[in-house]
Amino acid sequence: MAARKAMVAGNWKMNGSLELVEKLSDAINNAEFSEVKIVLFPPFPLIPAMIASGVNTGAQTVSEHTSGAFTGEVDAELIKQLGANYVLVGHSERRSVYKESNDVVAAKFARAQQAGLTPILCVGESETERENGQTEQVVAAQIDAVINKLGVAALEDSVIAYEPVWAIGTGKTASPEQAQTVHKFIRDKIASLEGNLAQGLTILYGGSVNEKNSELLFAQTDIDGGLIGGASLKAESFAAICNSAKGTV
Ligand code: PGA
Repeated sequence: MAARKAMVAGNWKMNGSLELVEKLSDAINNAEFSEVKIVLFPPFPLIPAMIASGVNTGAQTVSEHTSGAFTGEVDAELIKQLGANYVLVGHSERRSVYKESNDVVAAKFARAQQAGLTPILCVGESETERENGQTEQVVAAQIDAVINKLGVAALEDSVIAYEPVWAIGTGKTASPEQAQTVHKFIRDKIASLEGNLAQGLTILYGGSVNEKNSELLFAQTDIDGGLIGGASLKAESFAAICNSAKGTV
C-alpha cells in the first residue's frame, strides 16, 4: 500500500490580507506539523507573500487555456513560476457561480498537471441531490470527467476533496459517518480501476470543518484531512485543526 500523509488545506476564497498572511504563517511556522502537509490557498495577489512566508501555497482556480484573449484569467505556468505547487479545481462556488461544467473542470485539471501543479479536485452533491439519493452518481460523474479525459493514472498526482455543497459555509457539517461513506465510495470506485493508486490517494473532507469537529472527521479510515474555508481565516482555529490531523493517516 502506498503511504498517504495527512493534509490540511485552507481556502481563503475572496478574503485575507497581507496581515493575515503574516498571522497564519506565524501560527503554522511556530508549531510542529511535520506529519501534516499544510497548504494555503489565498487570493492570487497574496500568493507571493504566502510563498515568501515559507508556507506551501496554491491557487484557488486556474485557466484551462495556455495564453491568449482571456481577460482576467491566469495561466498555470505563471502560478508554478511564482513557486506555488497546488491549485483547486472544481470548487463548488466555481461550478455554481461561474458555471464551470465537469468538462471545463477536467480541462483545468489537465492544464494544472501539464504545468507541474498538483490539482485538488473538488467534488460534492447539492442538498437536493442528496435528498434524491443521487450523491454517488453526482460524485462519480465529477470524477469520471477527469478519468475519461486523462485516464485513471492522472489521479496519481492529485488530491480529491469531497465537499458536500450543503455543508459549505453553512455550519452544517456532514457527520463523520456520512462523510466516511462517500470517501469510501470514492476510494473503492478508483480502486476498481487501479488499486495501488486508490490506496495512496489523499481524499480530503470539506464543509464547515472547525476545531471542534475536525478530530472525529479526520479519524475516519478514508478521510485523510480537510479543506477548510471559514476556519482557515483564524490562525488559532486553523492551527488547532492542523494539530488534530496528526497521527490520523
Ligand atoms: P467552509 O468552506 O469550511 O467555510 O464550509 C469549505 C470550502 O469551501 O472549501
